[in-house]
Amino acid sequence: MYKPVNLSEQIYYVGVNDRRTSLFENMWPLDRGVSYNSYLIADEKVAVIDTVEAGQFEKWIAKVRAVLNDRPIDYLVVNHMEPDHSGAIRILTELYPNMEIVGNKKTLPMIEGYYGITTNCKEVKEGDSLELGKNKLSFYTVPMVHWPESMVCFEETNQILFSSDAFGSFGTLDGGIFDDELDFDYFTDEMRRYYSNIVGKYGNPVQKALQKLGALDLKMIAPSHGPVYRENIAQMLKWYDQWSKYEGEEGVVVAYASMYGNTEEMAEVTARAIAESGIKNVRVYDVSKTHPSYIISDVFKFKGIILGSPTYSNELHPNMEALVSKLQHMGVSNHVYGILGSYTWAGASVKKLNEAAQTLKWEPVAEPVEEKHSLKEDKYEACWQLGVAMAEKLKS
Ligand code: FEO
Repeated sequence: MYKPVNLSEQIYYVGVNDRRTSLFENMWPLDRGVSYNSYLIADEKVAVIDTVEAGQFEKWIAKVRAVLNDRPIDYLVVNHMEPDHSGAIRILTELYPNMEIVGNKKTLPMIEGYYGITTNCKEVKEGDSLELGKNKLSFYTVPMVHWPESMVCFEETNQILFSSDAFGSFGTLDGGIFDDELDFDYFTDEMRRYYSNIVGKYGNPVQKALQKLGALDLKMIAPSHGPVYRENIAQMLKWYDQWSKYEGEEGVVVAYASMYGNTEEMAEVTARAIAESGIKNVRVYDVSKTHPSYIISDVFKFKGIILGSPTYSNELHPNMEALVSKLQHMGVSNHVYGILGSYTWAGASVKKLNEAAQTLKWEPVAEPVEEKHSLKEDKYEACWQLGVAMAEKLKS
């Protein structure tokens, strides 16, 4: 009943869509859902590359069996142990008790720890190969893209890279599986949001992985989430290089917290000055309205950032504190910044935002602007000049 999706004559897409889960890692919104990609190679030997999240098992195994019928699975290649990919390992070993599980020396203890499995495990090292018949998989470790055991494999005959979380995207595959079958532009924000939210902390490991994998002649990239790439490979490599260096384009994220509208007004004035000074890409976010997932994604996209917060009981507004904490956790460096803030009896937010920016080694474009009570003319002008300075810095 299931019409197979071929990557090549003997390689199949057997992934599934999840439109029910609201939060990825119980944290990141999935407005457009997510796909858990899995691949099947049915050669003289049969290999499955990664499973799916446990709750998706029934849909997934039906696709696997539609290709295999009664043939057994010889190998399960585990590129990554996060449970969105490893969740069906235990039940698969019960269905196919002779199947060998293929992982590296960091994978196998996790398989034991998560699923209690210690038998029929095959350890592979960097550069090892697995002959399946016409198809041959070579293994490359890519530690911290996204976990320490993360690994990718390259099918040499068809030159397909099974890239695990690397090059993944949020968003379900709505009919189209390959990037040339779907609206690539529709996915670009979800690709960057996935990268920034999930892998964004690990810029240096991504750079190392790009150097290692850059030597391969890639005809297709088959990640564990989102589209399979065969047309936009160069663009994906370019974006990963840019994002992992935290190199933003010309544009500014203005993110503010505001209880009664005073810090918001400062943000509005600054945003207007940035735009009037010629910067078209300005994104203004109220951190109490927009989930950090989307703000962080735009921080990865644009080089400029303005942060604003009122002082809340001698601290930052808690929702701004949450955003700043995530940016610090991810180590989003290489930005130019400005700071805004207001207070009623004693100011602390501007000082704290400035300290946070300095820990990230951001470059200031002007002095922070701090107002007591509502915005008055001199600080209005200071907010304006901050916006002008930001625009001039971006254009210089
Ligand atoms: Fe898609 Fe790190 O798991």
